[in-house]
Amino acid sequence: MSDSDNAPWRTGHEPAGATPLSEHDKNGLRLSWVATWADLNAAEAANIAKALGMRRWYGYSTEKLLDDHVQRTLHRAMFDEVWKWAGRYRTTETNIGCDPHHIGVRVRELCENAKHWFTGTMAVDEAGCMFHHELVATHPFANGNGRHARVATDLLLRSLGAQPFTWGRVNLVQASTTRKAYIAALQAADRGDHEPLITFARS
Ligand SMILES: Nc1ncnc2c1ncn2[C@@H]1O[C@H](COP(=O)(O)OP(=O)(O)OP(=O)(O)O)[C@@H](O)[C@H]1O
Ligand SMILES: [Mg+2]
Repeated sequence: MSDSDNAPWRTGHEPAGATPLSEHDKNGLRLSWVATWADLNAAEAANIAKALGMRRWYGYSTEKLLDDHVQRTLHRAMFDEVWKWAGRYRTTETNIGCDPHHIGVRVRELCENAKHWFTGTMAVDEAGCMFHHELVATHPFANGNGRHARVATDLLLRSLGAQPFTWGRVNLVQASTTRKAYIAALQAADRGDHEPLITFARS
């Protein structure tokens, strides 16, 4: 894969909507009309809406969802109309996330561990938050990790007959106090305390 297929993204907040994308930001972009961050957010949102309109995701069992190939296929479906590298693990360092060489093993281990969390005695919300946090902390993809991991977690909850999380009831892509609360809850989970994320996810 060339560097241009896998831009070393800033993670966390993207710039305000009207900010033009730099040539560097556009690495791997499929859409020539996308010029600003607002354009990009809109294009990604349309791609995600189309992906989530596919019925197949809602028929998958918990076990099937906990497969690293399925997780990559989900990312591809959500982002491949926008990014050439959709569904492929990043090959460059990001400020959140593990060494790119460890991603494959870490996602497979997460899937195996999560099968026990979701099917054992752990409360389903706790299992969902453990899964979500470990996936975003691994940061498998160059971008779209938060959105992918929120959808993946919700599909897992649904596969068990549980309600999907509410995630603060706002679009978490945009800067807001709710997004700050989400990031603070993830930072608490980084320190081993998943309670704030469990509370946030149902807020
Ligand atoms: N301290 C942290 N620990 C674990 N995960 C974090 C931390 N800070 C941020 N994250 C996760 O990283 C995501 C941002 O990564 P990335 O830009 O790849 O995803 P995204 O889907 O584009 O993000 P966004 O949620 O902004 O749309 C956040 O949404 C959050 O899930
Ligand atoms: Mg992002």
